[in-house]
Amino acid sequence: MEPSRSVESKRDDYSLREEFIAVMAHEMKNTLSSIVSFSEILLTQKLGKLNDRQKVRLEHILEGGSRLNSMIIDVLDFQKIGLGQLRIEKRKYELEEVCQEAILDISSLADSKNITVNAHVDQVEIYCDYFRILQVLNNILNNGIKFSDTGSTITLNAFSDGNGVLFEVVDEGVGIEESDLNKVFQKFKQSGISKSLEKGSGLGLAICKGIVELHGGKIWIESNMGRGTKVSFTVPGRKIFSTKK
Ligand SMILES: Nc1ncnc2c1ncn2[C@@H]1O[C@H](COP(=O)(O)OP(=O)(O)O)[C@@H](O)[C@H]1O
Ligand SMILES: [Mg+2]
Repeated sequence: MEPSRSVESKRDDYSLREEFIAVMAHEMKNTLSSIVSFSEILLTQKLGKLNDRQKVRLEHILEGGSRLNSMIIDVLDFQKIGLGQLRIEKRKYELEEVCQEAILDISSLADSKNITVNAHVDQVEIYCDYFRILQVLNNILNNGIKFSDTGSTITLNAFSDGNGVLFEVVDEGVGIEESDLNKVFQKFKQSGISKSLEKGSGLGLAICKGIVELHGGKIWIESNMGRGTKVSFTVPGRKIFSTKK
Protein backbone atom coordinates (compact mmCIF):
# COMPACT_ATOMS: atom_id res chain seq x y z
CA MET A 1 0.00 0.00 0.00
CA GLU A 2 1.20 3.54 -0.83
CA PRO A 3 2.26 5.48 2.23
CA SER A 4 -0.13 8.38 2.85
CA ARG A 5 1.44 11.64 1.82
CA SER A 6 2.23 14.04 4.58
CA VAL A 7 0.37 17.31 5.07
CA GLU A 8 3.71 19.02 4.51
CA SER A 9 4.23 17.55 1.05
CA LYS A 10 0.64 18.40 0.04
CA ARG A 11 1.28 21.97 1.10
CA ASP A 12 4.49 21.99 -0.96
CA ASP A 13 2.50 20.76 -3.98
CA TYR A 14 -0.02 23.51 -3.41
CA SER A 15 2.50 26.32 -3.20
CA LEU A 16 4.39 24.90 -6.21
CA ARG A 17 1.16 24.95 -8.20
CA GLU A 18 0.40 28.52 -7.09
CA GLU A 19 3.91 29.61 -8.02
CA PHE A 20 3.65 27.87 -11.39
CA ILE A 21 0.38 29.68 -12.16
CA ALA A 22 1.84 33.03 -11.12
CA VAL A 23 5.00 32.58 -13.23
CA MET A 24 3.01 31.36 -16.26
CA ALA A 25 0.52 34.20 -15.97
CA HIS A 26 3.30 36.81 -15.77
CA GLU A 27 5.10 35.30 -18.78
CA MET A 28 1.87 35.23 -20.76
CA LYS A 29 1.08 38.80 -19.77
CA ASN A 30 4.44 40.04 -21.07
CA THR A 31 4.17 38.08 -24.32
CA LEU A 32 0.62 39.24 -24.84
CA SER A 33 1.45 42.86 -24.27
CA SER A 34 3.98 42.62 -27.18
CA ILE A 35 1.31 41.00 -29.37
CA VAL A 36 -1.20 43.70 -28.46
CA SER A 37 1.15 46.65 -28.83
CA PHE A 38 2.69 45.42 -32.14
CA SER A 39 -0.79 44.83 -33.60
CA GLU A 40 -1.73 48.35 -32.52
CA ILE A 41 1.38 49.77 -34.21
CA LEU A 42 0.71 47.84 -37.43
CA LEU A 43 -2.91 49.02 -37.41
CA THR A 44 -1.80 52.66 -37.37
CA GLN A 45 -0.35 51.82 -40.86
CA LYS A 46 2.71 53.96 -40.12
CA LEU A 47 4.88 50.95 -41.00
CA GLY A 48 3.07 50.33 -44.28
CA LYS A 49 -0.38 50.38 -45.78
CA LEU A 50 -2.62 47.39 -45.04
CA ASN A 51 -5.23 45.99 -47.36
CA ASP A 52 -8.72 45.36 -45.98
CA ARG A 53 -8.18 41.64 -45.37
CA GLN A 54 -4.93 42.25 -43.50
CA LYS A 55 -6.65 44.94 -41.42
CA VAL A 56 -9.54 42.66 -40.42
CA ARG A 57 -7.16 39.87 -39.41
CA LEU A 58 -4.99 42.22 -37.38
CA GLU A 59 -8.08 43.55 -35.62
CA HIS A 60 -8.92 39.94 -34.68
CA ILE A 61 -5.43 39.45 -33.27
CA LEU A 62 -5.75 42.66 -31.26
CA GLU A 63 -9.19 41.75 -29.95
CA GLY A 64 -8.14 38.23 -28.96
CA GLY A 65 -4.92 39.49 -27.39
CA SER A 66 -6.75 42.12 -25.35
CA ARG A 67 -9.35 39.58 -24.18
CA LEU A 68 -6.64 37.12 -23.12
CA ASN A 69 -4.79 39.91 -21.38
CA SER A 70 -7.77 40.81 -19.22
CA MET A 71 -8.32 37.13 -18.42
CA ILE A 72 -4.75 36.86 -17.19
CA ILE A 73 -5.11 39.99 -15.09
CA ASP A 74 -8.22 38.35 -13.58
CA VAL A 75 -6.29 35.14 -12.82
CA LEU A 76 -3.53 37.11 -11.09
CA ASP A 77 -6.00 39.22 -9.08
CA PHE A 78 -8.01 36.16 -8.10
CA GLN A 79 -4.86 34.44 -6.95
CA LYS A 80 -3.76 37.48 -4.92
CA ILE A 81 -7.16 37.59 -3.18
CA GLY A 82 -6.94 33.87 -2.37
CA LEU A 83 -3.46 34.31 -0.91
CA GLY A 84 -4.52 37.39 1.07
CA GLN A 85 -2.03 39.48 -0.91
CA LEU A 86 -4.40 42.04 -2.39
CA ARG A 87 -3.80 45.39 -0.72
CA ILE A 88 -6.59 47.94 -0.46
CA GLU A 89 -5.61 51.60 -0.08
CA LYS A 90 -8.59 53.60 1.09
CA ARG A 91 -8.90 57.35 0.55
CA LYS A 92 -11.76 59.82 0.34
CA TYR A 93 -13.25 60.53 -3.08
CA GLU A 94 -16.33 62.23 -4.46
CA LEU A 95 -18.83 59.46 -5.21
CA GLU A 96 -19.87 61.29 -8.38
CA GLU A 97 -16.28 61.27 -9.66
CA VAL A 98 -16.00 57.50 -9.16
CA CYS A 99 -19.32 56.83 -10.90
CA GLN A 100 -18.58 59.16 -13.81
CA GLU A 101 -15.25 57.42 -14.40
CA ALA A 102 -16.91 53.99 -14.25
CA ILE A 103 -19.50 55.03 -16.83
CA LEU A 104 -16.85 56.58 -19.07
CA ASP A 105 -14.84 53.35 -18.95
CA ILE A 106 -17.71 51.29 -20.37
CA SER A 107 -19.23 53.95 -22.63
CA SER A 108 -17.78 52.66 -25.89
CA LEU A 109 -18.90 49.11 -25.12
CA ALA A 110 -22.38 50.41 -24.23
CA ASP A 111 -22.47 52.49 -27.42
CA SER A 112 -21.49 49.46 -29.49
CA LYS A 113 -24.76 47.80 -28.32
CA ASN A 114 -26.75 51.02 -28.30
CA ILE A 115 -27.30 50.60 -24.55
CA THR A 116 -28.24 53.65 -22.48
CA VAL A 117 -26.54 53.95 -19.11
CA ASN A 118 -28.43 56.07 -16.55
CA ALA A 119 -27.01 57.12 -13.21
CA HIS A 120 -28.51 58.33 -9.93
CA VAL A 121 -25.70 59.29 -7.62
CA ASP A 122 -25.82 61.02 -4.23
CA GLN A 123 -23.43 63.90 -3.66
CA VAL A 124 -21.38 62.35 -0.89
CA GLU A 125 -17.86 61.23 -0.28
CA ILE A 126 -16.78 57.61 -0.47
CA TYR A 127 -13.90 56.09 1.45
CA CYS A 128 -12.41 53.42 -0.78
CA ASP A 129 -9.60 52.12 -3.00
CA TYR A 130 -10.47 54.10 -6.13
CA PHE A 131 -9.07 51.72 -8.75
CA ARG A 132 -10.36 48.57 -7.07
CA ILE A 133 -13.90 49.98 -6.73
CA LEU A 134 -13.69 51.04 -10.39
CA GLN A 135 -12.68 47.46 -11.20
CA VAL A 136 -15.78 46.16 -9.37
CA LEU A 137 -18.07 48.63 -11.14
CA ASN A 138 -16.42 47.89 -14.47
CA ASN A 139 -17.02 44.19 -14.10
CA ILE A 140 -20.64 44.53 -13.02
CA LEU A 141 -21.48 47.12 -15.68
CA ASN A 142 -19.66 44.97 -18.24
CA ASN A 143 -21.75 41.95 -17.27
CA GLY A 144 -24.88 44.08 -17.53
CA ILE A 145 -23.98 45.08 -21.08
CA LYS A 146 -22.76 41.60 -22.04
CA PHE A 147 -25.98 39.91 -20.94
CA SER A 148 -28.42 42.52 -22.30
CA ASP A 149 -29.99 43.01 -25.70
CA THR A 150 -29.08 45.92 -27.90
CA GLY A 151 -31.08 49.06 -27.20
CA SER A 152 -31.79 48.28 -23.54
CA THR A 153 -31.05 50.41 -20.47
CA ILE A 154 -28.70 49.95 -17.53
CA THR A 155 -28.99 52.02 -14.37
CA LEU A 156 -26.26 52.73 -11.87
CA ASN A 157 -27.50 53.90 -8.47
CA ALA A 158 -25.08 54.97 -5.76
CA PHE A 159 -26.70 56.14 -2.55
CA SER A 160 -25.46 57.15 0.85
CA ASP A 161 -26.85 54.51 3.24
CA GLY A 162 -25.89 56.09 6.53
CA ASN A 163 -22.83 53.92 7.01
CA GLY A 164 -21.20 54.34 3.63
CA VAL A 165 -22.42 53.81 0.12
CA LEU A 166 -24.84 51.36 -1.47
CA PHE A 167 -24.25 50.69 -5.17
CA GLU A 168 -26.82 49.06 -7.45
CA VAL A 169 -26.43 48.11 -11.10
CA VAL A 170 -29.75 47.24 -12.69
CA ASP A 171 -30.08 45.78 -16.17
CA GLU A 172 -32.93 44.54 -18.37
CA GLY A 173 -30.99 41.56 -19.69
CA VAL A 174 -31.38 37.78 -19.88
CA GLY A 175 -31.42 37.27 -16.11
CA ILE A 176 -30.00 34.44 -13.98
CA GLU A 177 -31.76 31.23 -12.98
CA GLU A 178 -32.70 31.22 -9.29
CA SER A 179 -30.70 28.06 -8.65
CA ASP A 180 -27.58 29.78 -10.00
CA LEU A 181 -27.87 33.00 -8.00
CA ASN A 182 -25.64 31.80 -5.19
CA LYS A 183 -23.13 30.23 -7.53
CA VAL A 184 -22.19 33.18 -9.71
CA PHE A 185 -19.78 34.51 -7.06
CA GLN A 186 -17.82 31.26 -7.25
CA LYS A 187 -14.97 31.00 -9.72
CA PHE A 188 -15.74 29.86 -13.27
CA LYS A 189 -19.50 29.64 -12.63
CA GLN A 190 -21.67 30.72 -15.50
CA SER A 191 -25.41 30.62 -15.40
CA GLY A 192 -27.98 29.00 -17.74
CA ILE A 193 -28.68 31.00 -20.85
CA SER A 194 -25.70 33.34 -20.46
CA LYS A 195 -23.36 30.31 -20.81
CA SER A 196 -23.95 30.37 -24.51
CA LEU A 197 -23.33 34.12 -24.72
CA GLU A 198 -20.00 35.90 -24.62
CA LYS A 199 -17.23 34.22 -22.69
CA GLY A 200 -15.23 35.86 -19.94
CA SER A 201 -12.80 34.46 -17.41
CA GLY A 202 -15.67 33.49 -15.11
CA LEU A 203 -13.69 35.13 -12.31
CA GLY A 204 -15.19 38.62 -12.46
CA LEU A 205 -17.80 38.35 -9.72
CA ALA A 206 -15.50 36.26 -7.52
CA ILE A 207 -12.95 39.09 -7.73
CA CYS A 208 -15.67 41.70 -7.06
CA LYS A 209 -16.69 39.78 -3.94
CA GLY A 210 -13.08 39.66 -2.76
CA ILE A 211 -12.57 43.41 -3.30
CA VAL A 212 -15.89 44.39 -1.70
CA GLU A 213 -15.21 42.18 1.33
CA LEU A 214 -11.73 43.65 1.71
CA HIS A 215 -13.52 47.01 2.02
CA GLY A 216 -15.71 45.50 4.74
CA GLY A 217 -18.76 45.48 2.46
CA LYS A 218 -21.23 42.92 1.11
CA ILE A 219 -22.27 42.02 -2.42
CA TRP A 220 -25.44 40.27 -3.55
CA ILE A 221 -27.46 39.64 -6.67
CA GLU A 222 -31.19 39.49 -7.49
CA SER A 223 -32.60 38.48 -10.82
CA ASN A 224 -35.70 37.68 -12.82
CA MET A 225 -35.24 35.35 -15.78
CA GLY A 226 -35.85 37.24 -18.99
CA ARG A 227 -36.47 40.48 -17.11
CA GLY A 228 -33.09 41.53 -15.79
CA THR A 229 -30.62 41.51 -12.94
CA LYS A 230 -29.69 43.78 -10.05
CA VAL A 231 -26.24 43.55 -8.48
CA SER A 232 -25.83 45.46 -5.21
CA PHE A 233 -22.83 46.06 -3.01
CA THR A 234 -21.93 48.21 -0.04
CA VAL A 235 -18.78 50.14 0.74
CA PRO A 236 -18.85 51.12 4.39
CA GLY A 237 -17.02 54.32 5.23
CA ARG A 238 -16.06 55.80 8.54
CA LYS A 239 -17.31 59.31 7.84
CA ILE A 240 -19.50 60.25 4.95
CA PHE A 241 -19.92 63.97 4.41
CA SER A 242 -22.46 65.38 2.05
CA THR A 243 -20.71 67.29 -0.73
CA LYS A 244 -23.96 68.97 -1.80
CA LYS A 245 -23.27 72.63 -2.58
N1 LIG B 1 -25.99 41.03 -15.31
C1 LIG B 1 -26.02 39.73 -15.53
N2 LIG B 1 -27.02 39.16 -16.24
C2 LIG B 1 -27.05 37.82 -16.47
N3 LIG B 1 -26.12 36.95 -16.02
C3 LIG B 1 -25.10 37.46 -15.30
C4 LIG B 1 -24.99 38.86 -15.02
N4 LIG B 1 -23.87 39.05 -14.28
C5 LIG B 1 -23.32 37.85 -14.11
N5 LIG B 1 -24.04 36.89 -14.72
C6 LIG B 1 -23.78 35.44 -14.72
O1 LIG B 1 -22.75 35.19 -13.78
C7 LIG B 1 -21.64 34.57 -14.41
C8 LIG B 1 -20.36 34.96 -13.73
O2 LIG B 1 -20.04 36.33 -13.98
P1 LIG B 1 -18.52 36.76 -13.93
O3 LIG B 1 -17.94 36.21 -12.69
O4 LIG B 1 -18.45 38.25 -14.15
O5 LIG B 1 -17.87 35.95 -15.13
P2 LIG B 1 -17.85 36.21 -16.69
O6 LIG B 1 -18.42 37.59 -16.96
O7 LIG B 1 -16.40 36.15 -17.01
O8 LIG B 1 -18.64 35.09 -17.28
C9 LIG B 1 -21.76 34.99 -15.87
O9 LIG B 1 -21.09 34.11 -16.73
C10 LIG B 1 -23.26 34.96 -16.06
O10 LIG B 1 -23.68 33.61 -16.24
MG1 LIG C 1 -17.82 39.37 -15.91
